[in-house]
Amino acid sequence: MCGIVGYVGQRAVQEILVAGLEKLEYRGYDSAGVSVLADGEIASVRAVGNLSKLRAAIDTSVAEADAAPVATITRPATTGIGHTRWATHGRVTESNAHPHFDTSDRVHVVVNGIVENYLVLKERLHDMGADFTSETDAEVIAHLVSHHMARGSLVEAVRAAYAELEGHYAFVAMSADEPDTLVGARKECPLVVGRGDGEQFLASAIDAFHAYTLDVQFVQDGELVVVRPGGVEFMDAEGTPIQREITTLDWSASTAEKGGYETFMLKEIHDQADAVAETVGYRTLRADGVDLGELELDESLLDGIDRVLILAAGTSFHAGLIGRYAIEEWARIPVEMDIASEWRYRNPIVSERELVIGITQSGETADTLAAMRLARERGAKVLACTNVRGSSATRECDGVLYTRAGQEVSVAATKTFVCQVATMYLLALRLGELRGTMGRARRTELVAEVKHLPSRISELLEGLDAPVKAAAERHADSSFFLYLGRHVGRAVALEGALKLKEISYIATDAYAGGEMKHGPIALLDESTPVVCVATDMPILDKMISNIQEVRARGAHVIAIATVGDTRLDDVADEVISIPRTDWMLQALLAVIPLQLFAYYVARKRGLNVDQPRNLAKTVTVE
Ligand code: AGP
Repeated sequence: MCGIVGYVGQRAVQEILVAGLEKLEYRGYDSAGVSVLADGEIASVRAVGNLSKLRAAIDTSVAEADAAPVATITRPATTGIGHTRWATHGRVTESNAHPHFDTSDRVHVVVNGIVENYLVLKERLHDMGADFTSETDAEVIAHLVSHHMARGSLVEAVRAAYAELEGHYAFVAMSADEPDTLVGARKECPLVVGRGDGEQFLASAIDAFHAYTLDVQFVQDGELVVVRPGGVEFMDAEGTPIQREITTLDWSASTAEKGGYETFMLKEIHDQADAVAETVGYRTLRADGVDLGELELDESLLDGIDRVLILAAGTSFHAGLIGRYAIEEWARIPVEMDIASEWRYRNPIVSERELVIGITQSGETADTLAAMRLARERGAKVLACTNVRGSSATRECDGVLYTRAGQEVSVAATKTFVCQVATMYLLALRLGELRGTMGRARRTELVAEVKHLPSRISELLEGLDAPVKAAAERHADSSFFLYLGRHVGRAVALEGALKLKEISYIATDAYAGGEMKHGPIALLDESTPVVCVATDMPILDKMISNIQEVRARGAHVIAIATVGDTRLDDVADEVISIPRTDWMLQALLAVIPLQLFAYYVARKRGLNVDQPRNLAKTVTVE
């Protein structure tokens, strides 16, 4: 996820910007830059790589400026913007890094998100004489704002530009002609103001400035904000002023680093809408399909496959399982699955017409890496699905599909899981299109639903904590939980059970609903909570029969169901609802209450959920 930070005030801005960007590092990035404004001029420094590279580039710039009569970044600038970029449009190069600027170098912008109509705008601006220096979609905003500044102030220009932009984004603009002013605009992507005394901050997340102030004002969707040292003005897209109250956050230094949440795991659960938006946004720009032709993935890798094999460990394996159902359903390619640590030792058979997908959020799990290596040695094409750029997995493969969840601090995988699942949906959709197994109408419908997943996650998380916490606290003393599900619901059940045992140290088991009567049913009595994944899907009636069997043993049923589905009312003791979407996509949503359930059971038992015992974040030891 890209990060934005801006500052206007009295202090030297460079360090504030770079320190702010460091606080956003967990979101993931591949290049960074800052622009600062002083004496009617803007100086900019950008660098590929991590922030130490940006610091080094700033130092070089300072040294050069010291030696030259024309100072650049050395001026005591007190207004500036900074950005960490994670490439979507255009390669990872210095010229593609933000801030972007107009032809006259008078307007600089930092942008998060995606400008969907950038090609049309670019062509028009180019015809009007704009000189583009990057391959990004974001650069059009700098030229567009500059174009509109010919007829008005920076805020008027941003408002006019905003009216022409399509997509989901947040940006901050700065003009050399208007010192001490930043103008921000928000369409779906977050933007928040930090209020100080004679100084103001504007960032994509509070993390960037919480060291200076905890007085914040949230920019709402569809709003613009003008930030000056002495004050902040909010307005809607028509320019009508809006009053926005200041919220003073009650954060200690330790909760501040967790974005106000009591633990990283809870923060990361609540980060999931953003994480999925980052993962699917730029790949779903086309209404009738998904585009994966990325820097690290030559799509010819997907040609001529007659089988897919997914290899992974733990939570990543469960994401793969959902991927299996989606690929088989939409692309009609047979998919096999195995746990990497098993597959690599069974003298496996693979062919050149096989696509092996290694899923590993860290990109460092030894068994998954070894399995990927072996698959390649035996002639298969290997695709890595990972969250970490430059990780070992990216070197043991023929192509990479990144999840863009940002850094996950908690050992319990949450946001990386939903992003892996989202990535599997995207891959399945693309394979379906390439193989002609899905008509355009069905693809269009599914792409629209995938694009809506982030808003459905937000809708789900709003108000979910209290009921799930209450349910978790009711059952926190149980010594055993059984999880049941069918089809994709089974993968969700497996993941829910893993999460609970991993962080609460309670024994759990997860089974396919239809398999329960073949043994595990013996475990059930009045004291057993049974978590049943019963979202709306073609075989929900089968799952309901399984739930009836559970009820017949007197066990307590906690069902995860689709909102408005009354079929569970008579058979479940407790129902937690998720928003309705395509049944295959509901698997991604259904896991979220189970993550929270595990979380609150563990918290009730007073456990450290971020670093459960005996577990490491990555498994690198063979
Ligand atoms: C789950 O919460 C775990 N952290 C664990 O199962 C994890 O998914 C597994 O170790 C695989 O890790 P990877 O995705 O980094 O390869």
